[in-house]
Amino acid sequence: MSSSDLVELAKRRGYFFQSAGAYGGVSGFYTYGPQGATLKDNIEDSWRDRFQRREGHREIDAPTVMPEPVFEASGHLDTFDDMLVECPECGASHRADHLVEDNTDIEEAESISIPDIEDLIADHDLQCPSCGAALGGEPVEEFNLMFETNIGPGSSSPGYLRPETAQGIFVEFPQLAEYARNQLPFGITQIGKAYRNEISPRKSIVRVREFTQAELEHFIDPTEDEPDIDRVADVELPLYPAEKQEEEDGTEYVHKTVQEAVDEGLVHEWVAYYLGVGKQWYESIGVDMDRFRFRQHLSGELAHYAADCWDAEAEVGAARSAAEDSSGDEPRDGGDWIEITGYAYRSDYDLSKHDEYSDDDFTVFKQYDEPKVVERATVDPDMSYLGPEFGGAAGDIADALEELAERDRAAFEDDEITVEVDGEEYTLPAEKTGFSVEEQKETGEHVMPHVVEPSIGIDRVIYTVLDHAYETDEVEDETRSYLALEPGVAPTFVGVFPLVSKDGMDDRAREIADDLRAEGLDVTYDDSGSIGRRYRRQDEVGTPFCVTVDDETAETVTLRERDSTEQVRVPIDDLPEVLADLREGEVTFAELDAPKAEQ
Ligand code: GAP
Repeated sequence: MSSSDLVELAKRRGYFFQSAGAYGGVSGFYTYGPQGATLKDNIEDSWRDRFQRREGHREIDAPTVMPEPVFEASGHLDTFDDMLVECPECGASHRADHLVEDNTDIEEAESISIPDIEDLIADHDLQCPSCGAALGGEPVEEFNLMFETNIGPGSSSPGYLRPETAQGIFVEFPQLAEYARNQLPFGITQIGKAYRNEISPRKSIVRVREFTQAELEHFIDPTEDEPDIDRVADVELPLYPAEKQEEEDGTEYVHKTVQEAVDEGLVHEWVAYYLGVGKQWYESIGVDMDRFRFRQHLSGELAHYAADCWDAEAEVGAARSAAEDSSGDEPRDGGDWIEITGYAYRSDYDLSKHDEYSDDDFTVFKQYDEPKVVERATVDPDMSYLGPEFGGAAGDIADALEELAERDRAAFEDDEITVEVDGEEYTLPAEKTGFSVEEQKETGEHVMPHVVEPSIGIDRVIYTVLDHAYETDEVEDETRSYLALEPGVAPTFVGVFPLVSKDGMDDRAREIADDLRAEGLDVTYDDSGSIGRRYRRQDEVGTPFCVTVDDETAETVTLRERDSTEQVRVPIDDLPEVLADLREGEVTFAELDAPKAEQ
């Protein structure tokens, strides 16, 4: 389905549309309509179920605005940049690496340096997409993607809208570790808005300036903790490793189970574990596994915090060839691959930065089973000597001696010791350092946890689910288009119709709709237009089932399945249970023990 068709369908059927249309719309901001907001809720709930509840993690809810020091520490202030080129004629701003990707065979141009991007723009005579002016020779600059604001009146307290929900978890680590009773490993999730002042938003909700992230930060002891690989060992992963991408015709995937990927050292064990969890989840919400892969980041593409990273990517916008039948077996014409999730091994990057920049301790204290006796090299400098001898530098020299004793106790075997403070060397007799090696009892040690992070872009997942759900077939000699959404995420689960709005059928249908709502199902009632048109409407919205009341006094109704258009008769009293089972996947429509209805 092309991007413009999807956007048109999304708008017409209440999934999403550009915000503030009455004022001309604003690029990079979208509103989810009545269907879209519920689809989003359902996808978020299923993410909570799979990544949080079933993994035993807990969720937090932090502010979206955070003070500048947080982003100084995290590195976002210095390095969270994209490449910007401005048109000398019309002044339009463009993302330089995307221009290169769109107009050459180069993929992942983000990993290319700025001078090389400038050369590529000039060599390929790239032009401004807005006005056609030549961009060769124009400077490419780094543009920081964070939205800046002031906290309170005045400008003395700058803040930023968070560019990722993750920092809201990292800055609270000291509190969170306490709640976890200092026991690693533990995982904290957060779902909420993130903001990036994208240079050129595109593909509707795929690249926006305000979007929803669902992130998990799993804090581990890198020397001890191992994932429970058995839980996902057999999950098959379609992997696209960096070395395959770098080959001339690098389109070959490597198909491995999670266990194989770990055993063969292809993927870090913790990242592999979550690739397995993720694959199960995408499949359960309707991502087509024939249009899905895990792509490893190329080294130049890694985020400033990531030691290794694999993206879950989905192919979208792939159109079926005209010759294709409704079975879906025919190949599709190629679409675009979009990143829907990043799985990063962030090591101790974030916690050690916040430990360094803040006043708090971002380690956990790991208690030993038995206290250990260890040898510690210490100094007790003679300050009555250091003071008169070195004046104001005496304190720093004492600190430098302590640091040297910890690092290199052999240095104290000489008669004289030399240390460097602020680039200057100071030498003093060994006996004035008070050097000694003592036995100490230690009950534990401070560990800086490492972090494994699956970071899901909910909007891109929604886009993929809609794109992959789109189907067409022939019904009653007419082309029908429908969204084959998974029953577990479909925003409207069942449509209830009276065959005609008279003879009490409408009252009966309304009663049934109310009863089903009381059972917690998402129900729509529709009595306008022919029954065929009502079915088509719900098909296009993606409603998996419809119930039609065709006789006021009958004890059964017709239950129709969207994908097959098959119909069966179901007793009204059984409807809530039957529909609940269908929603939970306890039973499929084909397995229902119910007589076929006349069509
Ligand atoms: N905490 C890690 C992090 O933020 P990321 O790869 O920059 O990593 C994670 O973002 C996910 O957020 C991406 O895989 C993507 O799905 C989504 N995302 C990022 N920028 C986006 C944007 N401008 N619009 C929509 N989704 C976006």
